[in-house]
Amino acid sequence: MEKQIAIVGAGVSGLLAYFPWPSSVTDLFPNQHQVLDYLQSYAHHFDLLKHIKFNTKVVGIEYEGASYEEIESWSLWNGNGQPFSSQGKWKVVVEDIQKQSTEVHQADFVVLCVGRFSDVPHFPEFPPDRGPGAFHGKVIHSMDYANMDNEVAANLVKGKRVTVVGFQKSAMDIAMECTAANDSQNFCFINPEEGFLLNLLATMLSPLRWVFAKFVESHIKKKLQLGKYGMVPKHSFLQDISSCLISMVPEKFYDRVEEGSIVLKKSQSFSFCEKGILVDGETTPLKADLVILATGFRGDKKLKDIFVSQTFQDYIAGSPNEKLPLYREMIHPQIPQLAVIGFSESLSNLLVSEMGSRWLAELLHGTFKLPSKKEMDMDTKEWDKCIKQYSGPYYRRSCLAVQQIWYNDQLCKDMGWNPKRKKGFFTELFQPYGPMDYVSSSRGKPIEP
Ligand SMILES: Cc1cc2nc3c(=O)[nH]c(=O)nc-3n(C[C@H](O)[C@H](O)[C@H](O)COP(=O)(O)OP(=O)(O)OC[C@H]3O[C@@H](n4cnc5c(N)ncnc54)[C@H](O)[C@@H]3O)c2cc1C
Ligand SMILES: NC(=O)c1ccc[n+]([C@@H]2O[C@H](COP(=O)([O-])OP(=O)(O)OC[C@H]3O[C@@H](n4cnc5c(N)ncnc54)[C@H](OP(=O)(O)O)[C@@H]3O)[C@@H](O)[C@H]2O)c1
Repeated sequence: MEKQIAIVGAGVSGLLAYFPWPSSVTDLFPNQHQVLDYLQSYAHHFDLLKHIKFNTKVVGIEYEGASYEEIESWSLWNGNGQPFSSQGKWKVVVEDIQKQSTEVHQADFVVLCVGRFSDVPHFPEFPPDRGPGAFHGKVIHSMDYANMDNEVAANLVKGKRVTVVGFQKSAMDIAMECTAANDSQNFCFINPEEGFLLNLLATMLSPLRWVFAKFVESHIKKKLQLGKYGMVPKHSFLQDISSCLISMVPEKFYDRVEEGSIVLKKSQSFSFCEKGILVDGETTPLKADLVILATGFRGDKKLKDIFVSQTFQDYIAGSPNEKLPLYREMIHPQIPQLAVIGFSESLSNLLVSEMGSRWLAELLHGTFKLPSKKEMDMDTKEWDKCIKQYSGPYYRRSCLAVQQIWYNDQLCKDMGWNPKRKKGFFTELFQPYGPMDYVSSSRGKPIEP
C-alpha cells in the first residue's frame, strides 16, 4: 500500500540524493548563485516542485498510535524494527503563511529536515541592565543581516562603527562585508569568545594525525600571525577541526586586520553599555553604532519545539551532558516512524545529508532493518563518547568531522555496500574520501550530468 512520507524543510537536507554538479562549475567552493542553480536543476530533474508546498510552516507534529508506555516497552523501534507500522500515524499541522490558514495532514513517516543554522538565532544571556536594552545603538543577529538584500545590508553598515560578536564563519564574512561597505576610517570589531581562525581543511584520518595537526597548527599560527593579534586559542587545531569550529578565512581578511579596518578583540564575556560593548576586564567601552551578534543558532530548540508532545520533546533534546541521542545521527529509538536529517555537521554538511538521505531511502525501502532499541542506545552512547573525546566542550554540535569516514562506513555496511570504496590498496589507505566515492549504489544508476 502507498505510504505518505512528510518531509519538513526543503533545504539541502530535505532534497539531496546524488546529483552531479554541471561541468561548468569547477570551483572548489561554488558561490551562492551556483548553489542555487544546482538546487533548482536538482528539483527540476527529479520533478520535485509538485511535491513541495512553499510558504507553509509545520507548526506541530503529533503521534497518534501506541501510548508512551507501550512504545517504551517495545524492544524494537516501532515495535517491529521497520520504518512503518500499521498502528500509528503522525498528525502534521501545517500553516499557510500567506493565507494564514491551517491544514492537518496524516503521514506514515516524518523526516525532519528543519535546518540547524536557520530560523532560531542564539542570543547570549546578560545580567539585568547589561543586555542590548542598555545600548543606545542598534543590535541585530547575523541571521537578520544575512536575510537582507545586498544593498540594504551595505546601507545598514555604511558609515557606522560596527562591532561583530563571534568568531566563526558568519562573523568573519560579515566583518569583511562591513569593511567593503566602509572606508578605513570606520572600524569593524570582531569580539570572539574563544574561537580559532583557521583556513585549512585537511584529512585527519591518518595515523600521523596528531603530528600533522601540530604541524598545521603551528603553520597557521605563523601564517595568520595569531600571536601578534592576541588570537591564539587555548585549544588545539585538532580539537577545532573535530568540533567543526574551523572556517575558510575570507580572502584578504588579515590584510584588513593589518590595515586596522578590522580590529580583533578576544574576551571571555562581554556586556552592553550605553555607548557600545564592554569587554570583560576593561573599563573603556568599544564604541559602536551597530552590534551584529554572529553568535550562532538554536537548531536544537527548533527541532524540539516541532513536537506537540512534551515527552517527545524531552526525548529529542536528550541530556545537556550528551550529544543529541540519535542513532546513526538520524533515528531516536523512542520516537516511532520519524527521522532527522541535517542536524549533525561536518566539514562538508552536504555530504552528511547526502549519506543520511541515501541511508534513510534504503531503510524506508526495506533494504535493512534496525537493530534492537537497546543496541541502538548502546551504539549512540559509544558515538557520544567518541564525539566528546574529539570535540571536548563542543560535543553538543554533534560534529562528525574526523569521524566522517567511519560514520560513512557504518551507513554503507547497513545498506549492504562495501565501505572500502577505493580501487586499490594504497588509494584506500592514503587518498582522501569524497562524495564521488559514494556515487555507485545498490539502487539505480548514477545520474548523467
Ligand atoms: C549564512 C550561512 C551560510 C552558510 N553557508 C554554508 C556553506 O557554504 N556550506 C555549507 O556546507 N553550509 C553552509 N551553511 C550551513 C547551512 O545552514 C547548511 O549546510 C545547510 O543549509 C543545511 O541544510 P538543511 O536543509 O539542513 O537546512 P536549511 O538550509 O536551514 O533548510 C531548512 C529549511 O526548513 C525550513 N523549516 C524549518 N522549520 C520548518 C517548519 N516547521 N515547517 C516548514 N519548514 C521549516 C526552513 O525554513 C528552511 O527552509 C551556512 C549557514 C549560514 C547561516
Ligand atoms: N559562507 C559560508 O560558508 C558560511 C557563512 C556563514 C555560516 N556558515 C556555516 O553556518 C554555520 C553557523 O555559523 P555561525 O558563524 O553563524 O555560527 P557558529 O559556528 O555557531 O559560531 C557562533 C560564534 O558565536 C560565538 N558565541 C556564541 N555565544 C557567544 C557569547 N555568549 N559571547 C560571545 N561569543 C559567543 C561562538 O564562540 P565559541 O565558539 O567560543 O562558543 C562562535 O564564535 C556553520 O556551519 C558555518 O560554517 C557558512
